[in-house]
Amino acid sequence: MMKKKWWHGKTAYQIYPKSFMDADGDGIGDLKGITGKLDYLKELGIGIVWISPVYQSPFVDQGYDISDYYAIDPSFGSMDDMECLLKEAKKRGIAIVMDLVVNHCSDQHAWFQAALKDPFGKYGKYFYIKEGKNGKPPCNWRSYFGGSVWEKLPGYDNLFYLHMFAREQPDLNWENPEVRQEIYRMIRWWLDKGIAGFRLDAIINIKKDLRFADLPADRDDGMCSPAAMLAQADGIHAFLQEMKQEAFAPYEAFTIGELFDFREEELERYIGEDGCFESIFDFAPHMLGASGRGWYDRTPVSLDEFRDAVFESKAVSQRIGMMANIIENHDEPRGVSRYLPECGRDETGKKLLAGISLMSFGLPFLYQGQEIGMTNKHFQSIREVDDINTLDEYKVALEHGFGEEEALQIISGMSRDNARTPMQWSSGIHAGFSSGAPWLAENENYGEINVEEQEGRADSVLSFYKELIALRTDPEYAMTVVYGLQEPFGRDMADFTGFYRKGTKHTLLVLANCRAKEREVEVLHTVRRVVLNNYVEPADCVRIRPFEGGSRVVMKGWQFLTLEV
Ligand code: GLC
Repeated sequence: MMKKKWWHGKTAYQIYPKSFMDADGDGIGDLKGITGKLDYLKELGIGIVWISPVYQSPFVDQGYDISDYYAIDPSFGSMDDMECLLKEAKKRGIAIVMDLVVNHCSDQHAWFQAALKDPFGKYGKYFYIKEGKNGKPPCNWRSYFGGSVWEKLPGYDNLFYLHMFAREQPDLNWENPEVRQEIYRMIRWWLDKGIAGFRLDAIINIKKDLRFADLPADRDDGMCSPAAMLAQADGIHAFLQEMKQEAFAPYEAFTIGELFDFREEELERYIGEDGCFESIFDFAPHMLGASGRGWYDRTPVSLDEFRDAVFESKAVSQRIGMMANIIENHDEPRGVSRYLPECGRDETGKKLLAGISLMSFGLPFLYQGQEIGMTNKHFQSIREVDDINTLDEYKVALEHGFGEEEALQIISGMSRDNARTPMQWSSGIHAGFSSGAPWLAENENYGEINVEEQEGRADSVLSFYKELIALRTDPEYAMTVVYGLQEPFGRDMADFTGFYRKGTKHTLLVLANCRAKEREVEVLHTVRRVVLNNYVEPADCVRIRPFEGGSRVVMKGWQFLTLEV
């Protein structure tokens, strides 16, 4: 069994501060708003909270473009508010994790402003500034948000700076030891304040292929995806280990990496015993259906594919370390809208999806609103969209011959703004999020889907999440739910997810009937107890018929069960 860590049995929760809770009525969520909801999180059973960036920022990419790492953006409050939040969280036994965005900063950061003034001086070396090819970019890499990664340095004909994301997010030059020391100093400064650790944003990008050479084009724009460049870049582990030793290890900080496009054989080096992080997010189900061409070319994903992706990922990872399970985050659409077919998109189906995710091996990481089953927004017009990534994908769809209506349809399913609408606290004005008009319009369904309505109701999605979360600290089952090995059950059945969690004391069998029709499942065990059931009517709604050497479980449509066998 893996070495135990303090965070293994916790449940984590991501807050997107701009949309969580607005205490001052300006339509933008803030730190005071978060502090005011700590009791709600505590009650839900949350032990770790990750807050997306609250640093000073021009908000070109919603705070992922930082202009001062040591300051709180005034729209979120003050440093005093941050300290108050840390103090109140500590009182409630909640660890606060901040976002560490150090692949790039904002073009408004003092370092970049100094680099603009003197590209050949000290601060020019904080960035990747290269000569172009006769006024054309140095190479053909495409940025994540569209267009070249190279932007001309104002005032120069043939000098360019590199940005993997938006042009307002210049990449920091990790090859420069001075830059690395600046970053470690900043990390220690925040850890000294009492935060528990960091979520490491886009961290795989810190190592570039320093040849800065053209790669085979993969779209008709003549450019190649960032992933193609990353596949050629070696040596990231030296940076990550150094950061761990110099900044995280002395504080025993909790670190969780956002890693796409990493090499599977390197998993041990990321989250193994001596790995550079404590954990990373498991994005296996989120990569399904993706296309290098853009969102217009994506394919829909079924729950059986979701299941297979989870199984394949756990087969590799669970003996190495503990990844974090998510169904959505601020970059992904709402999981219930994405993975559940229309016929399963009610509370029963939502609980089933929650069950599959939270009963899988891993640290559950909820995203605000997931616990009440918030859904994608219905966008009526592209003007309702704020997100830079979505606007780029809309453009790509138009360029590929789709009409405006079709392009809107395409981006609606994937837009990052789906998950960024205000948290639905109540059916009151602006969903109870703010007394003023929210920066991004609410999802129109807040009258039906909101915390207040679900709080007192035993059969709500929220109540089921509480049950699932409580199991991770349950004196009887915690060890099995947290550490028990996950092994597939009935994998050949269609519209079905089943798996064991095998602990030293108990074996749990998780069964999910992912269709509207009843079905009978034969298990070669005696069922000792029903531990979880997403139907809360009389207990007799679980029909189990024992036979010699086994049991037949009659499952209703969209029923989710966890049985002790
Ligand atoms: C990460 C963030 C995303 C952001 C990007 C650039 O993927 O989660 O929101 O746009 O990095 O910082």
